[in-house]
Amino acid sequence: MASRPHAVHVRAPGKINVYLGVGRRHDDGYHALATVFQAVSLYEDVHAEPATGFSLEVDGDVDVSGVPLDDRNLAMRAAKLLAQSADIDSGVHLRIRKGVPVAGGMGGGSADAAAALVACDALWGTELGSHRLHALAARLGADVPFALHGGTAIGVGRGDELTPALARGRFDWVLVLSEQGLSTPEVYGRLDVIRSHGEAVADDPPPSLDVPSAVLHALRTGDAHELAPVMMNDLEAPAVLDRPDLELALVDGVRFGALTGIVSGSGPTLAFLCPGPDAARAVQDALRSTGRDALHVHGPVPGARIIG
Ligand code: C5P
Repeated sequence: MASRPHAVHVRAPGKINVYLGVGRRHDDGYHALATVFQAVSLYEDVHAEPATGFSLEVDGDVDVSGVPLDDRNLAMRAAKLLAQSADIDSGVHLRIRKGVPVAGGMGGGSADAAAALVACDALWGTELGSHRLHALAARLGADVPFALHGGTAIGVGRGDELTPALARGRFDWVLVLSEQGLSTPEVYGRLDVIRSHGEAVADDPPPSLDVPSAVLHALRTGDAHELAPVMMNDLEAPAVLDRPDLELALVDGVRFGALTGIVSGSGPTLAFLCPGPDAARAVQDALRSTGRDALHVHGPVPGARIIG
């Protein structure tokens, strides 16, 4: 057997939903989705070291005060699930450095879980392979398989049934981060309420959920001008309802040169698609000059990977 590493460092990306169509709520509480994820260059770094029990520490570039350090933490759950599934009786100490905003709609917690799976698999020498890791990831949360996978992918089912999408070149995004996060279950719940009241701010769930071919075509050609008008997020209406300030920021980003702006996932992070790196830097600077926390990133980038 190969010798076990003393410590493993894994990096996993945050994501943007370039397209997010939400269907009906199922009995398990989850909604049917047709989505396109793109992994972007904002990362979670997870360091795993051998330990007798399971423990966790978290710091980072973003506010980490809301991150639980017990079994509510998805990375902790990931490590324990892997140990249980592979019949491992070792423990692990996880050190997480967060670059993705907490409760921001960019899948930061899911990236931690994906990184913890890859890190513990290497630390314990379980060598589960991508198929079994994916199955464990799907048990942890709807966005976790994508954080393993990275790149650009179509997600259906709960968002966990993935097919890679062809995406040419690179897309430049400017993110606007919020100090206050939004709860994903609450945003989904608000969408259901809006729809049940028949309010015009959100569409009814479509009878069949599909990612429009125009979205896939624009990704294939790598043309941001073609992608911008077909981006869509059904969670935008319920997110903005709770945070009217986002609407003004969406208008400002476009006024400053972005092709379009969208709420990322369940929000409140905003993602502005820009024509290229120079335009993105200009949009970032203009948004910063209005006092907003703006960040230029690009996608697609790979999923959870061992570093070094
Ligand atoms: O799976 P994950 O923990 O990321 O999901 C968080 C919450 O988001 C779920 O508990 C559910 O309320 C909502 N959700 C949903 N439909 C999905 C994915 C998430 O309703 N397809």
